[in-house]
Formats: sequence, structure tokens, C-alpha cells
Amino acid sequence: MKFDLETSPHSAAYKLLVGLVAPRPIALITSMDENGVLNAAPFSAYNYLCTDPPIVGIGVTNRSGEKYVPKDTARNIRRTGEFVVNIVTEDIAQQMNICATDFPPELSEVELAGFTTASSEKVKVPRIAEAHAALECTEFTTMEIGRSRIILGRVVAVYVEDRFVDAEGPYIKADELHAIGRMNGLGNYVRTRNAFMTIPRISYEEWKEGKR
Ligand SMILES: Cc1cc2nc3c(=O)[nH]c(=O)nc-3n(C[C@H](O)[C@H](O)[C@H](O)COP(=O)(O)O)c2cc1C
Repeated sequence: MKFDLETSPHSAAYKLLVGLVAPRPIALITSMDENGVLNAAPFSAYNYLCTDPPIVGIGVTNRSGEKYVPKDTARNIRRTGEFVVNIVTEDIAQQMNICATDFPPELSEVELAGFTTASSEKVKVPRIAEAHAALECTEFTTMEIGRSRIILGRVVAVYVEDRFVDAEGPYIKADELHAIGRMNGLGNYVRTRNAFMTIPRISYEEWKEGKR
């Protein structure tokens, strides 16, 4: 089948792209409004974009049906300039999903999900204590694109539980962290437990010697 996204409704573009650009890492973003009220929500339109400087990007669609009303995460980041990306692993997947529920403003999704918080080092926004790793970010820029915002965040500090770090790199023991990925918009995720294969890079010298 072929789809012309220039003439298709947004919902088709969403369903196709979230199913084809997959698996995606999930950023459980904590942010605060001007009064210090904490917010947490998951985003899978997310990746690191470069490391020098260290920049992550997040795509946040406006609230559905309301063209110019941003989600709380995007609004908070624009107003306070800080956020934390909490890494989503298998053991906090259900709690992450609760944070995506559109609760009324007086209810805290962090508490309802059973999460607690811990102080960050460089930003005022706390991290989720149950997350094994987190990226402390400051807003680099926010681009308003149609009904969405693309947020670029500069990573100013990284927290990882000691047991998941090989200090020699420092490398992340990714095969022990058990991060999960989002596969589509139908509630399907992929586990990374026992799912690793190793494909070393091939230098041109090795290629000429016949290595494949
Ligand atoms: C796993 C997962 C990934 C999501 N990824 C995105 C995303 O990339 N962009 C987006 O706008 N919404 C995404 N959502 C929906 C938001 O999490 C949801 O709209 C949330 O209520 C926004 O909360 P906020 O208004 O507190 O920021 C995702 C939901 C889930 C469960």
C-alpha cells in the first residue's frame, strides 16, 4: 500500500510513523511549572541528536482538537527552561503508562503512579527515584512546527545507578538495564532482556581482508 501524507489526515501519519519508526526509546519527562508543581509524562518521539554538544530532541504534539494549546510538558519547559528525561525500563513500564493519563490538574500523576522523586544535581526539576538513569536537561530551543513543538534539550548532567555503569568507558551496561521501546500507538512495547546481538564495526582494512 502507498499513502500520500500530504493529503492524509494527521491520524494516518501518526499511526504509520509510530509503527514504522520503531522501536523508540521512551523519555519519561519530569518538568515543573512556574509555581514548582511537578509534572511527569512519557514521550517516544525522542532521541539524542548529537553529543558535542550533548543534545536530545523531543516531539510534543499540541493537545488534540485545540490547535494552540500545548501539553503541560512543553508549556513547562518553555516557561522554566528545565526538565529531566527519566529512562524507562521494564520494571517501571506500568507506572510510566499511568503518567500518560490525562488527570485533572489537581491530581499528581507522579503520586498516582506510585513514583517518588529525588533531587537532581544541576536543575531544579527532580528526577524519578525509581528510574535507574536520568538526563538532566536545560532547554536549548523550542521550535513551533504546525500543531507540534520540537524541543531540543542540552544534557547538563547524567545520573546512572552504579551497577549499570562500566566505569572503564564509561559505558552503560545496556544488557542489564532492560530499557524498553515503544513499537506503535496500540500499547505495544518491546523488551530488551536477552535480546542483544553484537555486530562489531568493520574497518576498511578488515573489509579488504574479507571480514563481513
Ligand atoms: C509510551 C508513550 C509515548 C508517548 N509519546 C508521545 C510523544 O512522543 N509526543 C506526544 O505529544 N505525546 C506522546 N505521548 C502522549 C503523552 O504522554 C500524553 O499526551 C500526556 O498526557 C502528556 O502529558 P502532559 O500534558 O502532562 O505533558 C506518549 C504516550 C505514551 C504512553
